[in-house]
Amino acid sequence: MARASSTYFCSACGHESLTWSGRCAGCGDWNTLVEAPREPAGGVKAGAARRGRAAAASPVPLRDVAAPEAERFETGIAELDRVLGGGLVPGSLVLLGGSPGIGKSTLTGMALGNLGAAGRKVLYVSGEESTAQVRLRAQRLGEAALAVPALAETSLGAVVATLEAERPDACVIDSIQTLHDESLNGAPGSVGQVRESANGIMEVAKRIGCAVVLVGHVTKEGAVAGPRVLEHLVDCVLFFEGERERSFRTLRALKNRFGATSEVGVFEMRAGGLVEVADASARFVGEASAAPGSVVLSSMEGTRPLLVEVQALVAPTEIVPPRRVANGIDRNRLAMIIAVLARNGGPSLAGADVFVNVAGGVRVDEPGADLAVALALASAHRGETLADPKGRPLACFGEIGLTGELRPVAHADRRLAEALKFGLVPVLCPAAGERATDGRAVMTLAEALRAVRGRSAGRQSAEAA
Ligand code: TYD
Ligand code: MG
Repeated sequence: MARASSTYFCSACGHESLTWSGRCAGCGDWNTLVEAPREPAGGVKAGAARRGRAAAASPVPLRDVAAPEAERFETGIAELDRVLGGGLVPGSLVLLGGSPGIGKSTLTGMALGNLGAAGRKVLYVSGEESTAQVRLRAQRLGEAALAVPALAETSLGAVVATLEAERPDACVIDSIQTLHDESLNGAPGSVGQVRESANGIMEVAKRIGCAVVLVGHVTKEGAVAGPRVLEHLVDCVLFFEGERERSFRTLRALKNRFGATSEVGVFEMRAGGLVEVADASARFVGEASAAPGSVVLSSMEGTRPLLVEVQALVAPTEIVPPRRVANGIDRNRLAMIIAVLARNGGPSLAGADVFVNVAGGVRVDEPGADLAVALALASAHRGETLADPKGRPLACFGEIGLTGELRPVAHADRRLAEALKFGLVPVLCPAAGERATDGRAVMTLAEALRAVRGRSAGRQSAEAA
């Protein structure tokens, strides 16, 4: 019998096996076995012998390592460049994940178009669509996108050979799950294939100094398929998200070897492609309602303040346990806030379904959102609006501790300034050292609840007057 040319190992524990099985015999995890080509000369002894023969390498102090200031390829899409940390780095691998139809092909097509127009050599490899389909999209995006050389190819060998022959400055592989290495048995998209393909592409990209964007699909759970293997391999992981029905899209970095991971880009999908939303706060504040349960949160998206509307709905229910639905904020954080509210002068929501939503499909992953969620819940529960007599929404930020105290959060001054820009003063926020004007400092959640109650009482008296 011919010797198997592949071996399988567990991507969780490293256990090696000659056959594939659904469950790893080493750690018991499911679906973790990954196909890999067998080492040419196998065996631990052979490996040890090989290592024994190798000459010792000499380490170099880092200060003496030549580090040429790598030039970056600016994509001409400011929001994308900012999230990347200043543009694409030559020889680097970027993984762009996102659910189908969110606009990954549109974004990469536009970026390549701009790079091409700026005189860079570019290449678009499509494994999902024919070049005719890619052309149709490019037609909507304009002349620059139409000038991009495209290739419909799924064979890893052919793509690597093309990259070597063409030597582009920037290349997009749409998507990594469609590439396959003929020497492996697994179907395209299987973890082994994805890993080998990404490895193959990385090897050639580093050699020719090409910046590669790998488009990746996401699984139902929202992770990039073939996940951990890819995330370790690439230099930068970007995630493109948003609700398909809504036109807003956010781009964020989950990992970036060449920049901060806190930056977020905001886009809007229009008929002519993606448009950068430079002033997202204005959009969100403009859309904010003065209805009960609505609060404006002054949050930080990376280095940029962003005002978003947090909405809550509280509805009595017979269901046990009641429902806790969180869109755009962490579900565990919501549970914590509900518990702290009940203990600190807020409503008890034990008999109510609770829904919290960050409008516009935005995600806020920061503790600074706590106070906004708590106030939205209290307002929804009482059915009283938090808007001031002129209908301007209440703006706030702050982290809530388990004992009901309010904790200061980073960049309080920038958050205040952003709210001030839209006239949303005073901003309810935790007390912190010397406070700029226009912040209304509160020490505890109970105090914040009293403060907003005064606000709606003030509203009634203003209406009566
Ligand atoms: P696409 O980039 O193909 O998404 P992905 O590659 O992530 O699957 O485009 C997604 C959607 O965007 C598609 O349903 C059509 C829409 N769209 C526009 O609204 N305007 C445009 O200019 C383009 C190119 C697409
Ligand atoms: Mg696509």
